[in-house]
Amino acid sequence: MATPNHVLGLLIFLAFLKLRNAASTFNPEDNYLIDCGSLTNTMVGQRVFEADTGRSWTLTTPNNIIANNTTPSTVSSLDSSSLYLNARIFNKPSSYSFPIQQKGRHFIRLYFFPFDNKDFNLTTAQFSISTQDNVLLDNFRPRQDSITAFKEFSVNLTRDTLILTFSPENNSVAFVNALEVVSVPDNLILDTAQTVNTKATYRGLSTQLLETVYRINMGGPKIISVNDTLWRTWVPDGSYLVDPKLAQNVSYGGTISYINGATSAEIAPDLVYSTATRLLPQNSTMSASYNVTWNFNVQAGFSYVVRMHFCDIVSKALNNLYFSSYINSWSATNDIDLSTLAANTLHTAVFMDFVVDIPGESNRLSVSIGPSDINNVFPDGILNGLEIMKISSSYAGNVVEPKSKGNTGAIVGAVLGVMGVVIVAIVVFFCLRKRKRAKKQQSKTWLPFSINGGTSQSLASRATNGTAATSGVNGNLGYRFSFVVLQEATNNFDENWVIGLGGFGKVYKGVLRDDTKVAVKRGNPKSQQGLNEFRTEIELLSRLRHRHLVSLIGFCDERNEMILVYEYMEKGTLKSHLYGSNLPNLSWEQRLEICIGSARGLHYLHTGSAKAIIHRDVKSANILLDENLMAKVADFGLSKTGPELDQTHVSTAVKGSFGYLDPEYFRRQQLTEKSDVYSFGVVLLEVLCARPVIDPTLPREMVNLAEWGMKWQKRGELDQIVDPRIAGDIKPDSLRKFAETVEKCLADFGVERPTMGDVLWNLEYAFQLQEAGSTDSLVNSINRITELSSQVRDMNNTQPVMETGVGNISSNDLSDISMSRVFSQLIKSEGR
Ligand SMILES: *[C@@H]1O[C@H](CO)[C@@H](O)[C@H](O)[C@H]1NC(C)=O
Ligand SMILES: *[C@@H]1O[C@H](CO)[C@@H](O)[C@H](O)[C@H]1NC(C)=O
Ligand SMILES: *[C@@H]1O[C@H](CO)[C@@H](O)[C@H](O)[C@H]1NC(C)=O
Ligand SMILES: *[C@@H]1O[C@H](CO)[C@@H](O)[C@H](O)[C@H]1NC(C)=O
Ligand SMILES: *[C@@H]1O[C@H](CO)[C@@H](O)[C@H](O)[C@H]1NC(C)=O
Ligand SMILES: *[C@@H]1O[C@H](CO)[C@@H](O)[C@H](O)[C@H]1NC(C)=O
Ligand SMILES: *[C@@H]1O[C@H](CO)[C@@H](O)[C@H](O)[C@H]1NC(C)=O
Ligand SMILES: *[C@@H]1O[C@H](CO)[C@@H](O)[C@H](O)[C@H]1NC(C)=O
Repeated sequence: MATPNHVLGLLIFLAFLKLRNAASTFNPEDNYLIDCGSLTNTMVGQRVFEADTGRSWTLTTPNNIIANNTTPSTVSSLDSSSLYLNARIFNKPSSYSFPIQQKGRHFIRLYFFPFDNKDFNLTTAQFSISTQDNVLLDNFRPRQDSITAFKEFSVNLTRDTLILTFSPENNSVAFVNALEVVSVPDNLILDTAQTVNTKATYRGLSTQLLETVYRINMGGPKIISVNDTLWRTWVPDGSYLVDPKLAQNVSYGGTISYINGATSAEIAPDLVYSTATRLLPQNSTMSASYNVTWNFNVQAGFSYVVRMHFCDIVSKALNNLYFSSYINSWSATNDIDLSTLAANTLHTAVFMDFVVDIPGESNRLSVSIGPSDINNVFPDGILNGLEIMKISSSYAGNVVEPKSKGNTGAIVGAVLGVMGVVIVAIVVFFCLRKRKRAKKQQSKTWLPFSINGGTSQSLASRATNGTAATSGVNGNLGYRFSFVVLQEATNNFDENWVIGLGGFGKVYKGVLRDDTKVAVKRGNPKSQQGLNEFRTEIELLSRLRHRHLVSLIGFCDERNEMILVYEYMEKGTLKSHLYGSNLPNLSWEQRLEICIGSARGLHYLHTGSAKAIIHRDVKSANILLDENLMAKVADFGLSKTGPELDQTHVSTAVKGSFGYLDPEYFRRQQLTEKSDVYSFGVVLLEVLCARPVIDPTLPREMVNLAEWGMKWQKRGELDQIVDPRIAGDIKPDSLRKFAETVEKCLADFGVERPTMGDVLWNLEYAFQLQEAGSTDSLVNSINRITELSSQVRDMNNTQPVMETGVGNISSNDLSDISMSRVFSQLIKSEGR
């Protein structure tokens, strides 16, 4: 790495597409299609290439020749072969000039077939082509690489006229068989991209001349120009795959979604998004993870724009596909979660742009996708499409502006152009070096673990902070289910009983013989990462008992299975009650109670054991509701034990969910309880406004809920964006308290954020302000609050000892430690 001693930042630019609702094909304002050298019009698909007689354009040269291809059979097999039957040949510099109706992005496409003719042998032709502002091709010899040459340039035209000049070199001639000058949507090329050699933002792409060098449809067939709204050709990836054995083709027959249900065919056709190349699933003999890599030849010393097209056509549920991508071994996207990027939808098209510098001594550009480093996710990854464009002016290194400071972790969106593309930039920082270190630490900390009963190390040996090394897997880890029982409970792991999908595996609804409902999380037995998670979960959950944490009832490790059995949460996720479903509206009081419950759960995680536990993935989808709408915090898969006494933070790779991530965590890779506080602050806003934390379909300033909410709060007008269903019922004081709490949680720096205990206290206060029927009771509650406030302060001084009371962990929140007892309680209080 270029800066091995520094934290490397990565900006991921995601472009979400929001295009015209009309399904009509794109209608270019400027649309010059010329079959050069032809005296008649030529149809290619639906398009007419006009005879080269100059009507709306002019050709300024006295010395040019029209030539016919005397061996037309040589081109009959080519795409658009009818365009290669004639050429216009120039023996002096000559220009086509085109009036431009609409300034902005255009494709200039040039078709060359160097044929033999009785007068001219075009195979030796050597020439240059330029516009007033750019050289498109310099000393070009069309015959150099292949039989035909097709060149596509994307250029931002800023003048009223485009003059395309053909200049033969020395005694040679210049020629062209056909050419196109067509408008394309301005937002096809954005101004910024993420550089990969050093992590920074490349700015100024919108004025660059780009030459398309590769345009690939991953995992699918060739897409010919007539099947693409912008008449692009996409070729299959097979011949670029370094090791096709590692990859598989996947395809999807349904419709591709676009943000807002619009079409993005102008960015790439559906055909591109509905196929992908995917990492071949690993099998038991091949447990090591690997990357799938494509190699491309490029020109040394230039910079290239690499556009990756993604669309999750493989997952059955959200947040199930995490992977990383690399360009020339530089990290491009790290642990990307496609669902999150695609505004929490599947089958939704997304693209990302990167700029890579090719060193002077190399002519290779490689693109890889590989498994995520996140511990608990299944090794997977897909790529749907790829475009590689040369930045023509970039030779010998381009100027990369250092990333402007600030705005980290923020979502930057913009609505651009006629088609209203919403671009969302998600800024992700990560640190490879620290990541590695964190991994090493982890492998040192955890004992080798096998879930093969007899020969295994004791699972329990670390389960209680190393203080109790019990023998046997069953130790104090909870009820051990036999596989058969769980098979029966889940109707033999019936796919129709799947209630969730996580990185670890599928979650099934289950019904035990005594009618107790359970949630059965079945891990992938072969995944080493899953194994870590299994261990983490059992260890953590068997230590943690709290009425606001989802309880682990037991597990099953028979037959190499890794199955966790949890209490069943009847009402599902908090998120599903806020938006995106038909569930009944939650009142403000109910919402506050849920927030308070989750805050208690988190507070317990942070303070309930000698070592703080940081949840790391606090979000509304991880807050579950039981039948009484009591909130319980779930999914400790990403949890990590908090700071050691002599440390103030845990260094680790960024994990969690976009939209909820603590910007400081991004910046500094330092995980503290305050990262959870930040995420919880986002959850609070979500509860108040009942909208997704990232919604790329909204105007730029509204995309990121945290940003947008803070904007209103800073103006003191947060009430303007409250969920209209509850707006009328919230008492102003309650809202004010709540809003202040949110604001504190979302402070830029962890040190400025309150502890979870403070948050809890503030929420209780907000609840009481809401409940307060009269001024009297309000005063009373304030008195009570003052009282409680001092308790909280006391608690802070004497932590981690817990007393009863608000802000502390009350004794009735703490369940008994014994797993089997919990289990039997649960069995008894069936359907509770
Ligand atoms: C090329 O072919 C067309 C008809 O096929 C003919 O009219 C024209 O004269 C030919 N041009 C040359 C230079 O041979
Ligand atoms: C055209 O030039 C190429 C390369 O010099 C040569 O191989 C070919 O034989 C030539 N064709 C004719 C008809 O002269
Ligand atoms: C043109 O010809 C001159 C003299 O023959 C030679 O030095 C020069 O390199 C040639 N230019 C190109 C572009 O081939
Ligand atoms: C074209 O370049 C001009 C500046 O020269 C810029 O203002 C404009 O946004 C660019 N258009 C596109 C489509 O990139
Ligand atoms: C994937 O699809 C392409 C194009 O249809 C085909 O050429 C290739 O052989 C397929 N690869 C596999 C592994 O099936
Ligand atoms: C591509 O276009 C051709 C001609 O319009 C059509 O017959 C064909 O079905 C299209 N292919 C796909 C995959 O849509
Ligand atoms: C597992 O992968 C290895 C390596 O590619 C292969 O040799 C073996 O046949 C595969 N086994 C199965 C069951 O697919
Ligand atoms: C994938 O490639 C990147 C870059 O070369 C490398 O850092 C990473 O370890 C590879 N991943 C796997 C699983 O081989």
